[in-house]
Amino acid sequence: MSEIIIGGGKRLSGDLNVQGAKNSVLPVLAATVLCGKECVIHNCPALSDVETSIKILRALGCFAQRQGDAVTVNSEGISGCEIPDSLMREMRSSVVFLGAIIGRCKKAVISSPGGCELGPRPIDLHLSSLEKMGVTVTEEHGFLYCTAEKGLHGAEINLVFPSVGATENIILAAATAKGITVIHGAAKEPEISDLADFLNSAGAKIYGCGSDTVKIYGVEKLGGAEHTIIPDRIAAATYMACAAVTGGTLTLNGVMPSHMVSLFWLFKECGCGVELSGKSVRITAPERLSGVPTVRSLVYPGFPTDAGPIAVAMLSLAKGTSVFVENIFENRFRYVDELKRFGAKIKTEGKAAVIEGVSELSGADCKATDLRGGAALIIAALAAGGESKIGEIHHIERGYDDIAAALKPLGADIKYSKE
Ligand code: EPZ
Repeated sequence: MSEIIIGGGKRLSGDLNVQGAKNSVLPVLAATVLCGKECVIHNCPALSDVETSIKILRALGCFAQRQGDAVTVNSEGISGCEIPDSLMREMRSSVVFLGAIIGRCKKAVISSPGGCELGPRPIDLHLSSLEKMGVTVTEEHGFLYCTAEKGLHGAEINLVFPSVGATENIILAAATAKGITVIHGAAKEPEISDLADFLNSAGAKIYGCGSDTVKIYGVEKLGGAEHTIIPDRIAAATYMACAAVTGGTLTLNGVMPSHMVSLFWLFKECGCGVELSGKSVRITAPERLSGVPTVRSLVYPGFPTDAGPIAVAMLSLAKGTSVFVENIFENRFRYVDELKRFGAKIKTEGKAAVIEGVSELSGADCKATDLRGGAALIIAALAAGGESKIGEIHHIERGYDDIAAALKPLGADIKYSKE
């Protein structure tokens, strides 16, 4: 497995176009299963999770092909309803295919998504919601057999937690179900609205995404559609943090500022200049970042849990003591021990990470523990004096489109090396 090697201490400056959103392209690719006609999805980032989604679509008998930044899918010839276990294991979020496969094939077989990268990641809300829509779920030897012999019907669903994946699965299953489905307590993330925009362009009738209550009027069938994926707000925040910790100035193009309000808040609290101009944001780092007494992850539009590791890496260099509270996942601090190899002073206690800012970090050898934890290590390595090596970078390649190629033109001394 290759590593990333970084010579730290270089100020990063310049312009960067932000990649398409991983957490939008994955459910949208899953949704093409419902369409039965050719769909073209533009602004698809080159991620291993996208490659896995393409493999899943092909395993189901669909045509799926990347052409540049677009992926073309035609599910007219779909011939299967089972996601191979090996592919389920490659990508935790393959569970979002469930609603689409059941919606199209009236049955689905998936292995129970494992992966404790961030703590247990149950899918009880997904399954209980689908059961309300007429799906029978049986679990045997780690596989979930889902059937809806009489087809899916609309339901009134109250989500006790605004789960992103569960909201997406319900929308996917409800799009062509008989009748009306109402989701109370729906997740409001922008990626869900992007999914609904895609489905509506294919003929679905989905209303209210971005609010607590989403209403879906089931339609007979969906057609083909063309769609452009929204920008990745977490990748954007990652690159902003790279500039913030190296005393740089960075202009990010192609962002959606309305999706990043809580993220901009953090950078401003840390003393960065944040200037918006249309779909661009320019960040200017201060001489030294200021600590922030408390940052809490919350569901959207609160501060995103995915930006937690990025915030902690940034705050480890800030003046004073900061506290990050992780309220969404149970075990999202596995990257902290790796950050401490750079000299970061962080103490975790349950949901909280107490960060005592240090004036400098030193290069270290470390390993990515998960996608966003890996991004945190890159941020630390860019700021650290000396050379750093980051292993297990397959985690990072799941969600960042060639991060070394993105950072090099900004002045970063960064390269991949085969171990
Ligand atoms: C999506 O995961 C994202 N992944 C995650 O991004 C993101 O962190 C998360 O939403 C929260 O915003 C994709 O969109 C592919 P959840 P998801 O269902 O859908 C509990 C990244 O780094 N829960 O909102 O899995 C769950 O255990 C990834 O890009 C249940 O208890 O998130 C967790 O504690 C990481 N039962 C919390 O809800 C369920 O049935 C949030 O989960 C479902 C979830």
